[in-house]
Amino acid sequence: LALWDVLLELGYQVEGLHIDLGIGGYSEASRQRVEAFSQRRGAALRVVELAREGFTVPELARRSSREVCSVCGSVKRYLMNRVAHEGGFTVLATGHNLDDEASRLLANLLRWQLWYLRTQGPVLPAEGKLVKRVRPLFRLTEYETAAYAFLRGIDYVVQECPYSRGATFLRYKQLLRRLEHDVPGTLLNFYQGFLKEGKACFGQDQRSYMECERCGYPTTVPVCGFCRLKEAMQCGSG
Ligand code: FES
Ligand code: ZN
Repeated sequence: LALWDVLLELGYQVEGLHIDLGIGGYSEASRQRVEAFSQRRGAALRVVELAREGFTVPELARRSSREVCSVCGSVKRYLMNRVAHEGGFTVLATGHNLDDEASRLLANLLRWQLWYLRTQGPVLPAEGKLVKRVRPLFRLTEYETAAYAFLRGIDYVVQECPYSRGATFLRYKQLLRRLEHDVPGTLLNFYQGFLKEGKACFGQDQRSYMECERCGYPTTVPVCGFCRLKEAMQCGSG
């Protein structure tokens, strides 16, 4: 909501996107805040319901052996791109902040996920059906973003998603926040240093994309992760 507000203020032609994940009261509260913001600002909004794809996050949580938040993250990335591409949008902007980016970098480093280290950054260029992605708030901490929302009178859901309790990415975030508290500037140095000096050391992204046999969206394997997940959920419920 903070990003949407900033972009509107700066005069960009934007449309909001909300993905209703079907997480009971949490999703209801989130959707209600987003719809209220859209009405108050007279700003266009698209709502996508995950249930229409045949499953919801609580169903994922019951059936997936992976951490729910990471599966949910992949589902959201896929849907955001599909909606942006189908809608003819040129850029997909998300509200990731410095805490998000730095904790993701830490996670990628701790697991030496080279492909992610080669591609992580605030601007990802368009490629085929992959719409250009930008993260304009990447220099601001979560605290600063929240302060902006507060000062602008933006009503948002303060509590974290119920499934994020104990999630690995939250532990990394908490760890980095403690570091930032003890040594101010750590987060920005860590992330900006990576963009300026570190990233190039990991080389170029060599992966080649093909079209998913089911949905036609870019993937590195014949059937994309989203379609495989969808099929697995449908098999289990049938
Ligand atoms: Fe996706 Fe919590 S599991 S928002
Ligand atoms: Zn697919």
